[in-house]
Amino acid sequence: MRLTEEQQKILDGKEGMILREAMGNLVKYGTAMGAEEFIPITSAHTAFSAMDVVALCFPPRGRELAREDIDKFTREMENVRVKVKTTVNPGIMDRKKWRQMGATEAIYKSVMQAVEVGRKCGFMTTYSCIPYLTDNIPLIGEHCAWAESSAHIYINSFLGARSNRDSYDAALYAALLGATPNFGLHLDENRKGTDLIDVQCDIEDLSDWGALGHFTGDRVGLGIPVFKNLRRPTVEEGVQLGAGITVPGGSAMLHIAGVTPEAATLEGAFKGSRPRNTYVFDEAAKREIYQLINYEPQGKVDLVCIGCPHKTLHEIQEIARMLEDKHVAKGTRFWVTTSSSIRDIAEELGYAQIIEDSGAELFADGCPLLYYVNAPAKRPNMDRVATDSARQAFNMRRSFFSNMFFGNTERCIEIAIKGGV
Ligand code: F3S
Repeated sequence: MRLTEEQQKILDGKEGMILREAMGNLVKYGTAMGAEEFIPITSAHTAFSAMDVVALCFPPRGRELAREDIDKFTREMENVRVKVKTTVNPGIMDRKKWRQMGATEAIYKSVMQAVEVGRKCGFMTTYSCIPYLTDNIPLIGEHCAWAESSAHIYINSFLGARSNRDSYDAALYAALLGATPNFGLHLDENRKGTDLIDVQCDIEDLSDWGALGHFTGDRVGLGIPVFKNLRRPTVEEGVQLGAGITVPGGSAMLHIAGVTPEAATLEGAFKGSRPRNTYVFDEAAKREIYQLINYEPQGKVDLVCIGCPHKTLHEIQEIARMLEDKHVAKGTRFWVTTSSSIRDIAEELGYAQIIEDSGAELFADGCPLLYYVNAPAKRPNMDRVATDSARQAFNMRRSFFSNMFFGNTERCIEIAIKGGV
């Protein structure tokens, strides 16, 4: 890669170990991906959940980190600052309700240390996977370095911003440098549609959008799908569509004519080329996806969890309406997950109270997957789980081997009240 004089100085270590490592690793990443240079970015979205996790992105590598390694790294990290607006993905516990969700005092302290170090370095520790709706909203044409697969597909496809499907460490390095290797979705020629998805059935519920996403990601892989005969989604439906695509390994971009800023028409989405494949999503294909994601769904449900990606304020308003004067069944836990900033407003508006009066819990800053995969918190029983998110259902089954019910939000709420399917 061609480097400017200043970038070369950073690579030579003139600005300290942290920036040298950030530059060195992005040069390796860019070289492997065929980038010839860096491009300046306006925003980043990465992970910053605990210092022992952040430290893994820097030397020493290849051995378990001792306490002294993490303390030394933390002191070095406190001396650097992010160069662009940078938000943080959900972490490993709810900062207010950590006891309720089974986190230990040690986890709490480690997360709060990351919040403090992150604050000094300029990271906005929002712990949200929908920052593009609240705190970090890039506009059309802005180059970004975002991790979180459900987020970069949204900013590429619905906002017209440009980010590759970066890893957390690549996005962290880019935040510290204010630049990222220029390849992939940063370039016009890589943003055109490759495959057509012909939708020939009704897409009604939020879960249908997730199912369509799962089908698309499975068929198109790293190609860029263009949807035909698909109505304009709401913000929340668009979120589920994108989140569903990325789980079976789909790409970080989709086109819906008239919705995607770069695709005024179907033809415009393909930019003059012909689709390499056409896939039909009809009632039979939809049924097949629901059957694939549901796994032994009948019986007592231990945990109903909705909020993957995080619920918006509007969704929380609806959930509160549906839960008013209702009670979650004994022996079933019902979790709704969102970010702290959205929960704060939900508390002010009284939605949080209605949800909690029903026996459900409104958690923030994370999701069941992150609370229990990455942290040694005490996990509740998850033998059978119900969710309205194709992404959550797939990940929970893969991580916890839970039996799964996957269906629309109303049905999940009914299950929480009844205690089973
Ligand atoms: Fe967000 Fe967790 Fe889902 S981070 S996208 S709620 S897996």
